[in-house]
This record gives sequence, structure tokens and C-alpha cells, in this order.
Amino acid sequence: MADFFDVLLRRKTIRKYRPEAISDNLLKELLTAGCRASTTGNMQLYSIVITRDQDRKKTLAPFHFNQKMVLEAPVVLTFCADFNRFNKWCRLRNAEPGYDNFLSFMTAAIDALLVAQTMCIAAEAKGLGICYLGTTTYNAHKIIDSLSLPKGVVPVATVSLGWPAEDPAQVDRLLVEAVIHQETYEDYSDEIIDSLYRDKEMRDDSLQFVKENNKETLAQVFTDVRYKKNDNEFFSGILLKVLHDQGFIND
Ligand SMILES: Cc1cc2nc3c(=O)[nH]c(=O)nc-3n(C[C@H](O)[C@H](O)[C@H](O)COP(=O)(O)O)c2cc1C
Repeated sequence: MADFFDVLLRRKTIRKYRPEAISDNLLKELLTAGCRASTTGNMQLYSIVITRDQDRKKTLAPFHFNQKMVLEAPVVLTFCADFNRFNKWCRLRNAEPGYDNFLSFMTAAIDALLVAQTMCIAAEAKGLGICYLGTTTYNAHKIIDSLSLPKGVVPVATVSLGWPAEDPAQVDRLLVEAVIHQETYEDYSDEIIDSLYRDKEMRDDSLQFVKENNKETLAQVFTDVRYKKNDNEFFSGILLKVLHDQGFIND
């Protein structure tokens, strides 16, 4: 296995996969490693739905806005915040669960994301490529129907997984100093923001992105094209309804 820090520092999202399958044993090994992630109170408030069947992937694809990774990756994993299993255990053991609230959703969502990311690192350490699909929370209601998720279960992340068929350049990150605060949060002055984002803004790929999208600044590509207020509000409405329907928000 490659040096652990190399795995972390060299990683990049992979969106193209070779057709080779991932064996059951390897997948189980990755998920077992993922499940060693820290978990609130050792409650393991998550479930993972494995999709390998091509017809099922075809059903899922539109919910992920037809991102091609869903059909092309040999394995698609949907990580769910899950209080259903734990609640059932409590009720069978004469314990009344009090987990029908927003805090409990956050707790389970954090647990699910920790498993997802730990599994992703394990996969990358084995030479596999992964891509998160943020579309999961946009179309959670459709994914719930499609995967038969009961009350108490909400999908929070999808990961496509496969053997890499591309070797893209690593994308940039802000300097680590940009995200670190010593002891208390030191708010960013305009000058500091200018200096922290300058390199990102001046990259050739960023300048190209601004031009292609007919925008004045890179920030406008985010606010006006990629992650728009209207979309955010629309999908927030859907997600709030999902949390209500799945029993995490009460009237
Ligand atoms: C929660 C989350 C959702 C994401 N959703 C998508 C997605 O829907 N489609 C996609 O191509 N990449 C998606 N990504 C991958 C990011 O675009 C990628 O991590 C980011 O551009 C940084 O690139 P890197 O992972 O290669 O460093 C997502 C990543 C995260 C963490």
C-alpha cells in the first residue's frame, strides 16, 4: 500500500472508470474499514446501499442529473443517515427513542459522512477512484423511493467507485493558513480575502471558466451559474419536506 500521507496528498476525484468489476471481498474490506470511523456514542447511525445492477443505476441516474459516473462506475454507494435500525432496537428492548428531531438527523448525517469519507480514503489507498455526488441531497425524495428507504432514513451522500480510467491534474486548494485560526476565529479583512483567493483567481483554468461562463469574476461563476440562490432555496424546500416525511422534523 502506498504511503498513507501520499494517499491523502496526491488524491483527486476520479470521474472516469474502467469497466472491471470490484470484487465482493474488496468492497466488503473497504466498507469494513469505513465502518471503523468514529460514530456518535458508537450507535452507527448509518446505512449504505450498494448499487451494482445496471438497471438500478439507470433508475438512479436521472436523480443525479444524469452524471455519467452513475452508469459508468461499477459500484455506486448511497450513504444514508439512519435512525430506523437503532430506533427498532430501542423499541424491542423496552427503550423509548427520542430521535424524531433535527438534532438527531444532524447526528446521523455526520455519522454517515464520516463512514463515507473513511471508506473513500480506504478505496483511494487501494488504487480505486471515487467521486462524491452532491445531487443526493437535491433529489433525496426520489432516491428514498427508488431505494425503498423507510422512515428514519435519509440519503446524504452518494459515491461512485471504480478503477480509474483517467489521471486528471490535481485541482487547487487554498493555502492551509487560509482555513486555520489560532485559538479564536480571526475574521477576514478584504485585503486578506484578496490575497487568499488571488492565486485561485489567476489560474488559467479559473480564467477560462470565467470566460466560458461570460462572467466578470470567478465568484460569479459560483453565485450565478453553479450554486444559485434560487436553486439552493428550491432544493432546501425539498430537503426540509424530506426531513419532515422521514420523521426528523415535526410540525
Ligand atoms: C459533498 C460533495 C459533493 C460533490 N458533488 C459532486 C458532483 O455532484 N459531481 C461531481 O462531478 N463532483 C462532485 N464532487 C467532487 C468535487 O467537485 C471535488 O471534490 C472538488 O472539485 C475538488 O476536487 P478533488 O476532489 O479532485 O480535489 C463533490 C464533492 C463533495 C465533497
